[in-house]
Amino acid sequence: MTLNANQSAGAGTALSELMQALRARPRRWLVTGCAGFIGSNLLEALLAAGQEVVGLDNFATGHRHNLDEVQRNVGAEAWARFRFIEGDIRDMNVCHEAAQGVDYVLHQAALGSVPRSLEDPITTNDVNIGGFLKMLVAARDAKVRSFVYAASSSTYGDHPGLPKVEDRIGRPLSPYAVTKYVDELYADVFTRAYGVPSVGLRYFNVFGRRQDPNGAYAAVIPRWIAAMIQGKEVVINGDGETSRDFCYIENVVQANLLAALASEDGLNQVYNVAYGGRTTLNELFSFLVSALGDLGIEYELSPRYGDFRAGDVRHSQADIGKAAALLGYAPQHDIQAGLKEAMPWYVQFLR
Ligand SMILES: NC(=O)c1ccc[n+]([C@@H]2O[C@H](COP(=O)([O-])OP(=O)(O)OC[C@H]3O[C@@H](n4cnc5c(N)ncnc54)[C@H](O)[C@@H]3O)[C@@H](O)[C@H]2O)c1
Repeated sequence: MTLNANQSAGAGTALSELMQALRARPRRWLVTGCAGFIGSNLLEALLAAGQEVVGLDNFATGHRHNLDEVQRNVGAEAWARFRFIEGDIRDMNVCHEAAQGVDYVLHQAALGSVPRSLEDPITTNDVNIGGFLKMLVAARDAKVRSFVYAASSSTYGDHPGLPKVEDRIGRPLSPYAVTKYVDELYADVFTRAYGVPSVGLRYFNVFGRRQDPNGAYAAVIPRWIAAMIQGKEVVINGDGETSRDFCYIENVVQANLLAALASEDGLNQVYNVAYGGRTTLNELFSFLVSALGDLGIEYELSPRYGDFRAGDVRHSQADIGKAAALLGYAPQHDIQAGLKEAMPWYVQFLR
């Protein structure tokens, strides 16, 4: 099954419609990083859409409780279509085992976080480039229909243009950004050298349920929500005018399914996956206060302004025209709609 852009864009590409289309043609998918934030959301959508899923994760940053939550949400019948492999993408045998008999790969496993990569560039490189390459080899050998992978907006580096357009990138600002760019180069070479169909999705600041609020490398939204729910002070890096194109997880799930099912025109490309808006950290702070207030949680502290963070880009906003035109991508949730949907989960999880 493939979808062409007209078919999907014309008919609207809400996630529910895509899942309906999948239900008619069950396939086997491999989701790497399935115990993480984005991977576990992909897993849940695929199982709910009647698909068979192999999951691979080594719990480096993901959690068993994410898998447990998916199991509870999808129920026993759907869970029986899931096979979990606890293993490392740096192990070639594990990658081969995971990719065997698979139609589509959604490769999410990686070590995220710019600060982590500045502190430990070697492990970030080993996993994000070495492990990526092994997954790509396994996908090639298994002759998958498509290899969809998590790329990153960090690839824009110091390019000043706004909004960001796929073919205009600058110099990377962190080891993490280097790894994500090298992945794009490898995917491209594997298409040309071996005919492996691939799609790179440059995610822009994704947020939603199951994004880890804990640890030194937690992303801004879950970190701030955790602080607010616990009545602690929120620290804003810099003056608060740093901006991002925050993208709700459901939009990302939609983009992954569209990418996997893309027709020839849509394959072998890299796409921005974002909402296409821009929110400053100061605005984000007030959106969070208000979303918590809607749930009866009043947060009255003012934020504290700290130093700018090394390796961070100042402004980020995506042009999502390419994904709209070639994949039929049509994000349904802006930041405030996404926060409204995600907040009850955080309140339940963190209280
Ligand atoms: N969250 C974002 O805003 C964002 C933005 C841009 C790109 N990305 C990319 O999206 C992907 C998913 O990110 P996420 O936010 O869900 O992070 P996450 O840390 O929640 O998920 C990553 C998963 O990969 C697993 N993993 C790490 N190393 C592994 C290894 N060696 N072998 C097997 N599994 C391994 C982890 O245990 C974890 O479950 C990553 O590739 C990340 O770089 C995320």
